[in-house]
Amino acid sequence: MFAQVLSAAPYGIEARLIEVQCDVSPGLPGFAIVGLPEKEVSEARERVRSAIRNAGLSFPQLRITANLAPADLRKEGAGFDLALAVALLVATGQVRPEATADTVFLGELALDGSLRPVRGTLAMALAAHEAGIGRAVVAAPSAAEAALVDGLAVHPVASLGETVGFLRGEHTIPPAPRTVPAEEPPDWIDLSFVRGQEHARRALEIAAAGAHHILMVGPPGAGKSLLAQCLPGILPPLTFDEALEVSRIYSVAGLLPPGRPLLCWRPFRSPHHTVSYAGMVGGGHGIPSPGEITLAHHGVLFLDELPEFDRKVLEALRQPLEERRITVVRAGTSITFPASFMLVGAMNPCPCGHLGDPLRPCRCRPHEVVAYRKRLSGPFLDRVDLFVQVPRLTRDELLADGGGEPSEAVRKRVAAAREVQQRRFAGSTRTNAEIGPREVRRLCRIGPEAKALLSRAVDHFALTGRGYVRTLKVALTIADLAGSATIEPEHVAEALQYRAFPEEATA
Ligand SMILES: Nc1ncnc2c1ncn2[C@@H]1O[C@H](COP(=O)(O)OP(=O)(O)OP(=O)(O)O)[C@@H](O)[C@H]1O
Ligand SMILES: [Mg+2]
Repeated sequence: MFAQVLSAAPYGIEARLIEVQCDVSPGLPGFAIVGLPEKEVSEARERVRSAIRNAGLSFPQLRITANLAPADLRKEGAGFDLALAVALLVATGQVRPEATADTVFLGELALDGSLRPVRGTLAMALAAHEAGIGRAVVAAPSAAEAALVDGLAVHPVASLGETVGFLRGEHTIPPAPRTVPAEEPPDWIDLSFVRGQEHARRALEIAAAGAHHILMVGPPGAGKSLLAQCLPGILPPLTFDEALEVSRIYSVAGLLPPGRPLLCWRPFRSPHHTVSYAGMVGGGHGIPSPGEITLAHHGVLFLDELPEFDRKVLEALRQPLEERRITVVRAGTSITFPASFMLVGAMNPCPCGHLGDPLRPCRCRPHEVVAYRKRLSGPFLDRVDLFVQVPRLTRDELLADGGGEPSEAVRKRVAAAREVQQRRFAGSTRTNAEIGPREVRRLCRIGPEAKALLSRAVDHFALTGRGYVRTLKVALTIADLAGSATIEPEHVAEALQYRAFPEEATA
C-alpha cells in the first residue's frame, strides 16, 4: 500500500515542505529511503523500526520504500522520523489516511518511541502555515516554538504511541496555547558604571540611535570593552516581527534556550578573534548553517581586539556590512542569510597600546605600528561610520565618586530617535544606517549651510563617495536625536568629528 504525509526541512532560515511517501509491497523484507538523504536521514530506518516496535505497533516484514520529495533537495537531520513512522503506519493500515490530512509532522524519534526536539521548528511551522496547512503534530519540547505561528494548530506529542492514539481519535490533545512569555531584560552592564569617556559615550549613543558601525580606539584599560558591553542596554527591544525573525535564526542554529521560544532582546555576539571563516559568515558541513553575523541580526556584532582577527575573516564582512545579508555557497547549495547587524570594533592604537599618550611613551617601532594597522584594510575601514578615541582616564575621572548617566536615560533618547526613523520609513523598523543609495537624496534633508560645510569636508578629509554618504547618514541621526527635521551645520560638524581614525593615535 502507498501513503503520503507531510514534513518539512529548514534551508537557511527558511523551510521547505517535504512529502514523505511510503510504499509497502510484498518481496524480500527491507527498508530503503530515497530522495537525496544525508547520513542521519538514512539512519532514520533504525530509529523508526525500533520506535514502532517499542510503541507496541507492528513493523511489517515486507519491502518498504520511502521517498522524500522533492528529490533534488538535500535532506539532513532527524526531523523526518515522525513523518516516516506515520507514513509507514498509514501504508500498513494501522492509521487511517484521512487522519493525517492537512497536517505536518515534525519530530525526531528515540529508539523507545519518545520524541525529541527538532532544530528549525519555528521556520518549518511558518512554512507550513504559509503553504495553507492548518495543523502540526510536533515533538512536545519544540511545540512552544511552533505555536508562535498565528493560525496553525500545534498539537504537542511526547511519543509515537501518543501520536498514534491521537490520530486514531482514542484521546484528544488540545492545541498548544500561543504564549509569548514576558522576558526579563538580561543583566547588561549599566552605563552608570562607566567613568569619564564623555566623547565615547556620545558616539555610542549616536551609533545606537541609527544602528551605525563604530570603532573604538584606545589604550588598554580605558573602558572600550566595558562601553561595548553597555550597548545592548541602550538599544530598544525587538519588535514582535523582529523577535520572530531572530528566534527563527536561533531555532535553525539549535541555539534557542529551552522554555524561551521567543527572543525579545537584541542579540549581542562577541566572537573570539580565533573564529573561523565559516563560524563568522556561515557554512559548515552539509547544508550551510548561520554564522556569527547572522546570529547578530537586528543586534550587535562586537569584535574586540579587531586587528587580531584573521584578515580573510574581516574582509568577508565587507559585503554584509553594506548589503546586510550574506550568500553562502556550499556543496551545491546556495543560501542567503540575513545579516543586518551593528558592528562595534575595539582596538589599541598600536601593539603596546600607548601610542599618543603623553605620559606613557609608546614602545613600538614605526614599522610595527604600520604592520598592526595594515591588518585592517582601507575598504574595511571605509565602512566604519564612527571612529572614536577612548583615551586613558584622567586622575580626576578615576577618583570621581560615580560614573555617568544611567543606561535607562540614554535608552529613552535612542528610542525617541528610532521613532523618528520609523515615521521616516513609513512605519517599518529600518534605521538610518540602512538607507539605500537611491534614497539618500530624498531622505537626508540637508540645509544649504550644512551642505556647504560638508562639501568643504570632502577635500579636507579626502572623503570617498561612501565616506560622504556615511557622514550624511550619521549627521541625520544626530539631527534625529536633536529633534531637528533638517540636517544643520552643527550636526554635520559633529558627524565629521567621528570620520577619521583618531588623529592623536596616528603614527
Ligand atoms: N571608563 C571606565 N569607567 C569605569 N571602569 C573602567 C573604565 N575603564 C576601565 N575600567 C575598569 O577596567 C576594566 C578593564 O576595562 P576594559 O576591559 O573595558 O578595557 P579596554 O579598553 O577594553 O582594554 P584593552 O585594550 O586591554 O582591551 C573594566 O572592567 C573596569 O573595571
Ligand atoms: Mg578590551
